[in-house]
Amino acid sequence: MTNTTYFPIDKLKESETPLYYYDLHLLDETLQAVKEASSYPNFHVHYAVKANSNPEILQRIAAAGLGADTVSLGEIKAAVTAGFPAPKIVFAGVGKTDEEIITGLQYGIGCFNVESKEELGIIEELAASLGIKAPVALRVNPEIDAHTHHYITTGLAENKFGISMTMLEETVDKCVKSEHLDFRGFHFHIGSQITDLTPYKILCERINVLQEQFKDIEIPLINVGGGLGIDYDNPEKNPIPDFKTYFEIFHDHLKLRPGQQVHFELGRAIVAQCGSLITKVVYVKEGIGKKFVIVDGGMTALIRPALYQAHHKIENITSSSEIEEKYDVVGPICESSDVFGTDEVLPITKRGDLLALRSAGAYGEIMASGYNCRPLPGSVFSR
Ligand code: LLP
Repeated sequence: MTNTTYFPIDKLKESETPLYYYDLHLLDETLQAVKEASSYPNFHVHYAVKANSNPEILQRIAAAGLGADTVSLGEIKAAVTAGFPAPKIVFAGVGKTDEEIITGLQYGIGCFNVESKEELGIIEELAASLGIKAPVALRVNPEIDAHTHHYITTGLAENKFGISMTMLEETVDKCVKSEHLDFRGFHFHIGSQITDLTPYKILCERINVLQEQFKDIEIPLINVGGGLGIDYDNPEKNPIPDFKTYFEIFHDHLKLRPGQQVHFELGRAIVAQCGSLITKVVYVKEGIGKKFVIVDGGMTALIRPALYQAHHKIENITSSSEIEEKYDVVGPICESSDVFGTDEVLPITKRGDLLALRSAGAYGEIMASGYNCRPLPGSVFSR
């Protein structure tokens, strides 16, 4: 059915497709929900910039008072430009370059989330050359299966992320003894699009054991990463994730020391539901026993279906037909994986109709590419 109430159809019809449409009211409501659910005095949420770094989105998140979790100098700069104060920016990633580390130190960012002892050595050297102390948290690989897609699970021993438990003691020791490292605590991240929250309880238990193991060391903060999933099947029913249950798990299960801070790095849960990819039907092609809806935005505009076999709910937002049909919805890119959905039930769909791929605000626009020399999608906002 035509979704005329949610989307500003006239504005979208005038705009060049494919484009990302962002519902800023929903973003604001989501931010409000995050703030309320995380309003324990020692909890601090950093938005994972990698999910979406559209300046309009970043500015709103900065204005809401969240910190920023970044993974490159480009993201640090985008966060600073959007108004995130440097002390509220953390910097993770397995391959930080010297330039990125030096610039991060010069900005005075809040913490480097360190992924290896090799990286720690370089940070120490560079901090020494600047005559300062670098704030560092050690990313620990907790070896927890987050039961999500294998490309987005990160906390297993076979993954490239973090420092293994067996090397932790010597690495902490190096931090504590160094004149140029300020040991802030431990960092974890077990994966993304986590909908069964049990792995978070296991994470809390692991953290409690670790705190016991390092009971003689001062640990100002624990960073539990991000990963809270969203409901891709029912964006209308569940536009805002259950932040309350998520934060309560950490509040109830972590055995914190007095004054200890807990950092969270949520990306998808904050921005996914407010964004939709809007794409125009170029052809409706008769195949053998099926019909293809060929749209102007493919895997270059939204790569998640091709890369992770992800499914985004598809709506025809301009058809007024009461009759439904089944279609395979595909993009124009010369790759067989350029498919958004098979046997999608849509109202009778015609050339020129607009389709919305819902829940695309996270890892959508930011992962767009210029493959096949296609232009990057633009963006339109609700006001
Ligand atoms: N912290 C760290 C260290 C991370 O690696 C990530 C995501 C996050 C936080 C934020 O996770 P979130 O709350 O958004 O789940 N492109 C994939 C997701 C990759 C996630 C990478 N790391 C997708 O489209 O599903």
